[in-house]
Amino acid sequence: METERLWIRRFSAEDWKDLYDYLSQENVVKYEPYSVFNADQARTEALRRSSDAAFWAVCLKSNTKLIGNIYFRESEPKAFGTWELGYVFNPEFQGSGYATEACKQLLSYGFEHLNVRRVIAKCNPENMQSWKLLERLKLRREGHFMQTGYFKYDSNGDPIWHDTFSYGLLRSEWLNRVE
Ligand SMILES: CC(C)(COP(=O)(O)OP(=O)(O)OC[C@H]1O[C@@H](n2cnc3c(N)ncnc32)[C@H](O)[C@@H]1OP(=O)(O)O)[C@@H](O)C(=O)NCCC(=O)NCCS
Repeated sequence: METERLWIRRFSAEDWKDLYDYLSQENVVKYEPYSVFNADQARTEALRRSSDAAFWAVCLKSNTKLIGNIYFRESEPKAFGTWELGYVFNPEFQGSGYATEACKQLLSYGFEHLNVRRVIAKCNPENMQSWKLLERLKLRREGHFMQTGYFKYDSNGDPIWHDTFSYGLLRSEWLNRVE
């Protein structure tokens, strides 16, 4: 897929270096359910993503560099038409609207071509950049769930419990949105 500044395409095994560029950074994975990747893990992950239709590589048109990824997967049961959206971008390319541009394209593709009925997204309330992005995309905050889980441990080995903001957007709302 193409937008004004971006190509959005499937992953390939050769993407591992660009993936490693950002997944190796602590601040990037802070709110993710995994830790920083080493080079070998990035190689394996790029290969795995190349056969996983939920992962989209977001690349600059100007030089083809992969600057981030979007996750867009149909939830079960499929009859409900609900898809989950996620995203991780290289900090070097944050703050320029690239995530907004790429996610808009995926939402448009989903609602207009994949018969998606509802899109959901979850994030940690502390992750302001993430929920600001969701609100730019016109998703609605539908809930604040307390201490829903943990991904990381503190220095004593205790779980760091996090809250979850839950967001949603219906196809009817997307089609009737005013930019
Ligand atoms: C969440 C994440 C993708 C948001 O990235 P981002 O760069 O803030 O989002 P965008 O690319 O849409 O850029 C928006 C910013 O660029 C600015 N901007 C500049 N030009 C813009 C344009 N043409 N269009 C939109 N925004 C533009 C906006 O004002 C905004 O800045 P602000 O937050 O200071 O107001 C990023 O922080 C990230 O990858 N974090 C680490 C992984 C993560 O936590 N993922 C989510 C887990 S739930």
